[in-house]
Parts: sequence; C-alpha cells; structure tokens
Amino acid sequence: MAESFDAVDIIRVKRDRGTLTPEQIDWTIDAYTRGVIADEQMSALNMAILLNGMNREEISRWTAAMIASGERMDFSALGKPTADKHSTGGVGDKITLPLAPLVAVFGVAVPQLSGRGLGHTGGTLDKLESIPGWRAALSNEEMMDVLRDPGAVICAAGAGLAPADKKLYALRDVTGTVEAIPLIASSIMSKKIAEGTGALVLDVKCGSGAFMKSEEDARELARTMVDLGKDAGVNTVALLTNMNVPLGLTAGNAIEVEESVEVLAGGGPADVVELTVALAEEMLSAAGVRDADVRAALQDGRAMDVWKRMISAQGGDPDAALPVARESHVITADRDGYLSELDAMSVGVAAWRLGAGRARKEDPVQAGAGVRMHAKPGDPVKAGQPLLTLLTDTPEKFARAEEALAGGWAISPEKPEGLTPLILDRIS
Ligand code: URA
Repeated sequence: MAESFDAVDIIRVKRDRGTLTPEQIDWTIDAYTRGVIADEQMSALNMAILLNGMNREEISRWTAAMIASGERMDFSALGKPTADKHSTGGVGDKITLPLAPLVAVFGVAVPQLSGRGLGHTGGTLDKLESIPGWRAALSNEEMMDVLRDPGAVICAAGAGLAPADKKLYALRDVTGTVEAIPLIASSIMSKKIAEGTGALVLDVKCGSGAFMKSEEDARELARTMVDLGKDAGVNTVALLTNMNVPLGLTAGNAIEVEESVEVLAGGGPADVVELTVALAEEMLSAAGVRDADVRAALQDGRAMDVWKRMISAQGGDPDAALPVARESHVITADRDGYLSELDAMSVGVAAWRLGAGRARKEDPVQAGAGVRMHAKPGDPVKAGQPLLTLLTDTPEKFARAEEALAGGWAISPEKPEGLTPLILDRIS
C-alpha cells in the first residue's frame, strides 16, 4: 500500500515548531500502530512534541486517532447514567476503592477501568488482588452484569481499548518522553473516552509524589484534559490536589484495602474521607444527580453493602482476612515536637522497595508489603514513638527502604503553619 506521508517529514514539522494537519496526525497514529513508522522515528517525534508542544486542535485529533485505533465501549443498554474517575497517580491513593461503590449507591454506574502500578505509584488492581479470590480480568458481558448490579466495577482494561496508546506509552516509558503534557493528556483521555463513560472526574495531582511536580504544570494538564473531554461530549471536571504528602496512613496493597474498608465503615483518615466525598459529589453532579448525602452513605453501611457485593461479583471474599507481611521494622521519632514534613515520593519509593510495587511490568508484587504511617504533618510527636512501620516478606529490603526515607520526614519544635490544603482548585 502506498503511504500518504513520510515519517521523516512529519518529524521535521514538529522539530521546526510547525503544526501537524489532521491527515498527518491520523496517518501517524495508524502507521505507528501498523509498524510502518519505526520506534526510533516515533521516539524522535515524541521528543519534538515534548520540547515544542501541540495546539488544542492537534491534541484533540491525536486523541481521536488513538481512540479510533481500537474498540469503543457502549453502556447505553444499562439505562442509567455512568461516571468514572481518573487519578494521575500518587502515593497512598486508594480513593477508587471506597469511591466506586459510594457513587453506585446513588444509581450512577461506575465503570472503573484501572491499571497496575509501575514505579513508586501503586496500582488499583494490585491493591484489590490482595483480596483472596478477587480477579481483575472480566469479559465485556461480565462487566455489564456487575454494572447492572451492584452498579460499580473495578477491572482491567481489555487489550482492545486504544491499542495505539499501549504501544506509544511503552515507548515513552523508555525514551524519557512520559512527561509531555499533550502526550499524557491524550493517553489518559483516549482510554477514558473509548471506555464510553458519560461523566468523568479527574484527580490531577501535583507535588513530589506526582507526575506533575509544579502546580502550574498540573493546572495545564488538567485544563488540557477537561477540554479534550468536553470536545468529545464527556461531561468532564478536574480537581487539582496536593501530592506532597501521602494520602491516608498506608501505602502498599493489602494495607490500603484495609484502610479503604475503614472508610466504607464510616471511619478512616480525614484526608481520605475528604477526597472520597469531594470526588463522589463531583461525579454525581456531573452525572446529573443533585443533593446526594454521600457522607450518610458511608456512615449507614450502604456504600459498604455495594463494596461487598462488588468484590463477591468478581470472585473475591470481602470478609476474608487480608495477607499480612511476615516482617516489620519500626522507625521512631528522635525528639519531641511536631511532624513538619512527610514526603510522598520518599514514602512511595520505600513502599516500592519493600515489595509493594514493581520495577518491570512482569514482576510480582507482595500483597502485605508497604509503609504504615503513624503521624501526618501537623501532628504532635514524642521522642521514641513509632512514626513509620515498614512491612515486607523479605527483610533484606529494609535497608534500601530506610535509605529512601532518610530526609523524607522532619520534626520541628513548633506546630508547622500554613500546610498546603488537600484540594487546591477545581477546573471545569
Ligand atoms: N497515565 C496514562 O495512562 N498515560 C500517561 O501518559 C501518563 C499516565
């Protein structure tokens, strides 16, 4: 087949800060998926995009071309509104677990296609797989059944969804081009739009434990994704949230499930509850449900009921004991005062090194591994009290995890002032 364009010409356009035409973009995504554009050519183009950017029309077309590379799901047969949430990833971010069943309580179906962790951020599927029997892979028919009742499903995205993104993301991962805002935005939004949700709430994180370290970059990413969603007819809003400090008091797999169940039982750490409630209210409002009392549904057991039925529907035993790490090691406060800093990146790397995360995508994770936090910034601490408990099945990992945490926390004599709020802004 004669090709419509030449990859080298396309690279030159972006290298020289030009604008790609819709036809050039369609051809690029299609030709790369077919193997006509070589990895080294796509790497050069990705780097040119990282350095020189793309305009709104280019990003929108790039996203549409990635959607067109695969199947589109359709939930219209459910006869109820759908809403989904996507987080750009952080440390201790277990919010999807209590959030999906909570939103389903109010008659909005939640098709939550999730991923596994890579690097220092955890993956929702890895966390849920610590529940005995639970399985992430569902057929489209099974997914529809669970969405009908109990109404929320958290499962792995099938191979048919935006296959161009799978190939492109793997290439970006090894060529230093993950951080390009047009490429992140189109990668995330192509999967969410192809998934077919009616409403979408984005949790765009910024800070040491997030992809976007600065608020300015996070804001630009949020704006770009909200515009892409709206252009595609998906009612999209974003919350900009702080990821300088881990969410909640656990970072790992089974220990994050345990904390999520506490939230579903009406307890749990204040920050996890605050973000779960805020995102649930946004999802319900975007799906057209007004005045839902989401806190009441956490307190009175309705969200817990959906959770248990959702876990059972996917083969899991919601009442089974969760795996526990064989070994633990406690880090204690070296003086009296107030915890003034607890760095998300340090805790994320420590949990990862303890075995909660993976270095390569084929690696297994340890269900019981991770970090328990006993204080958060602003809390008073006494010399000798436990600050962090490190958990693993393989104690030779403690030393490297401790190295990751060195300098990652601090105690000050005075109560720290002006701690950054959890929710920084809302972008719609
Ligand atoms: N998550 C994605 O799915 N894609 C990106 O590019 C970054 C984060």
